Amino acid sequence: MTRFRPVRKAVFPVAGLGTRLLPATKTMPKEMLTVVDRPLIQYAVDEARDAGIEQLIFVTGRGKSSLVDYFDLGFELEATMEKAGKSRAALDSSRTTPGELISVRQQQPLGLGHAVWCARHIVGDEPFAVILPDDLMVGGALRQMVEAYNQVGGNIVCAEEVAPEKTASYGIVTPGETRGNLTEVKGLVEKPSPEVAPSRLAIIGRYILQPEVMDILDAKETGAGGEIQLTDAMAKLIGKQPFHALKVDAVRHDCGDKAGFVLANLAIAMDREDLAPRIREYMAGR
Ligand code: G1P
Repeated sequence: MTRFRPVRKAVFPVAGLGTRLLPATKTMPKEMLTVVDRPLIQYAVDEARDAGIEQLIFVTGRGKSSLVDYFDLGFELEATMEKAGKSRAALDSSRTTPGELISVRQQQPLGLGHAVWCARHIVGDEPFAVILPDDLMVGGALRQMVEAYNQVGGNIVCAEEVAPEKTASYGIVTPGETRGNLTEVKGLVEKPSPEVAPSRLAIIGRYILQPEVMDILDAKETGAGGEIQLTDAMAKLIGKQPFHALKVDAVRHDCGDKAGFVLANLAIAMDREDLAPRIREYMAGR
């Protein structure tokens, strides 16, 4: 047993327009694009369940209803398949039980902090995880974060060293004392240019946060890019609550852009015995 309140809920901000993946995302949410044989969102939900998350909170927007439909019980489909004697095993992890998935709308694109704030009434007064599905993590990132949380409590961001010229794409940590994979967070700044970045330790799309961050987000202060930034709200918790960055033992695929998306497909397919030989053969002939 842990002395900290368990992390039971995860917020998935999935209202984004996916403009970096156009034209694929013109009528299809980016989270529904396929990586090998399942939509991107499925990887995020599987990771959450593997970490012990019991309630999935999708922050969606207009045109994003297929995400919620996907996790419904496909009753007609399943009944027809059952009648035809076909296996329904492939559908197993795409089902949710009533109440397991709740969706709220982010009505305007005002930033990641605003998206998380939209889930405040569902999150209530307990710690929660945030998962950005664009960062496809192979290796149980959130599970490792929950394990670390059970040791130190407070707030934890997933972090990774990035190339110096990339700091302007991430939230960047001012690091304090480091013990193993866990670094104390002394400061946070959203998307600093390389000249002013306090380090190269960047926030990756996984967070464990205390509910007090919602009170800070209530103020709707804007930051980098004129958006309500989650990073800025988190920064205000430093010094009041424990705050750590965890380097996880997992591989990240950034599916937010086209090359990252293709690489994710390739890497995950190459881990599959049923697919790898044909792909290897094809690549050898290139
Ligand atoms: C968001 C956050 C940023 C974080 C990043 C991780 O940025 O604002 O702090 O480092 O996700 O993927 P975005 O990628 O939405 O611009």
